[in-house]
Amino acid sequence: MTDILKIEHLKKYYIKKKIFSSESSVVKAIDDITFSIKKGEVFVLAGESGSGKSTIIKLILKSIQADEGKIIFENQEIDNQKKNLNKIRMNCQMIQQDPYDSINPRMQIKDIILEPLEIHNVGNKEERNKRVLEVLHEVKLEPVEEIIKKYPHMLSGGQRQRVVLARALALKPKIILADEPVSMLDVSIRAEMLELMKQLQKKYNITFIYITHDLATAKYFGQRIAILYLGKIVETGPIEQVLNNPKHPYTQALIDAISEPDPDNINKVKKIRIKESLVEGDIEGCRFKSRCPYAIEQCKTEPNLEKVGNEHFCACYVKLN
Ligand SMILES: Nc1ncnc2c1ncn2[C@@H]1O[C@H](COP(=O)(O)OP(=O)(O)O)[C@@H](O)[C@H]1O
Ligand SMILES: [Mg+2]
Repeated sequence: MTDILKIEHLKKYYIKKKIFSSESSVVKAIDDITFSIKKGEVFVLAGESGSGKSTIIKLILKSIQADEGKIIFENQEIDNQKKNLNKIRMNCQMIQQDPYDSINPRMQIKDIILEPLEIHNVGNKEERNKRVLEVLHEVKLEPVEEIIKKYPHMLSGGQRQRVVLARALALKPKIILADEPVSMLDVSIRAEMLELMKQLQKKYNITFIYITHDLATAKYFGQRIAILYLGKIVETGPIEQVLNNPKHPYTQALIDAISEPDPDNINKVKKIRIKESLVEGDIEGCRFKSRCPYAIEQCKTEPNLEKVGNEHFCACYVKLN
């Protein structure tokens, strides 16, 4: 399979002013991140809040500028030329956590979905109207003829998120960047929405970047995963492999945070409890070391991603068994 998207050595730092002081500090939101995504695959970015997940999406869509690094889409570097920006914005659509971030509450559903088609000048009026109905069918918002006349507040949370999905699908994107798309939904409708995304992903072979802090949904939807910790990838590989046989103590800690204690295994598995998050991380060496129960002297120098299995990489000197 060919790579549809490549991210090379991406960096984005923010200067943070300290309150009541003239000092400032640097937040390394994204610090030298490299990965590539194959056409038609669901690639998961997972990590706690503040690890840089949303920043990666914004950098890919060029809604913010990287300090360093390259974004390569279909073998072409996306620089700031208008034609390249257009190409990435037509082919990559985003779904955000909160539907109201991407839909205007004062617009009817029909106009919400028409908007991207109009912005990108797709087809004629009749074709655009037809596409609106088509995508609403796709996301199973029925009866479509009634839905199009409604306003967002007249729909349920789950229906609103389907509108967002329909809007993202309208342009027939090659990539969908889904930033915690189900985390605001009621648990009862979360599975339905994920199932729908999975069906559409398969039907149209859409490449997905699925952002989540929920490893259970990651496993359900994704094929490969990258675990982010304070702007760095600490572990990456096929999802089953990474989650069934994690090598990085941070990955293990994320898994432990969601798993019920297994009475048969209680002595076998040493649960990793990590200390409270330090948002800015350690300045030197491994950023996780001050929270890591396995930290050793060597962790004062930054570990690089090393191969630990087939397509499985981990940035840790210790590496769990
Ligand atoms: N515009 C900004 N100005 C300053 N700091 C920012 C800005 N956007 C994000 N950050 C910081 O960058 C880090 C990563 O943020 P983000 O990508 O939103 O994380 P996530 O989506 O994983 O929760 C956080 O420490 C956040 O505070
Ligand atoms: Mg985020």
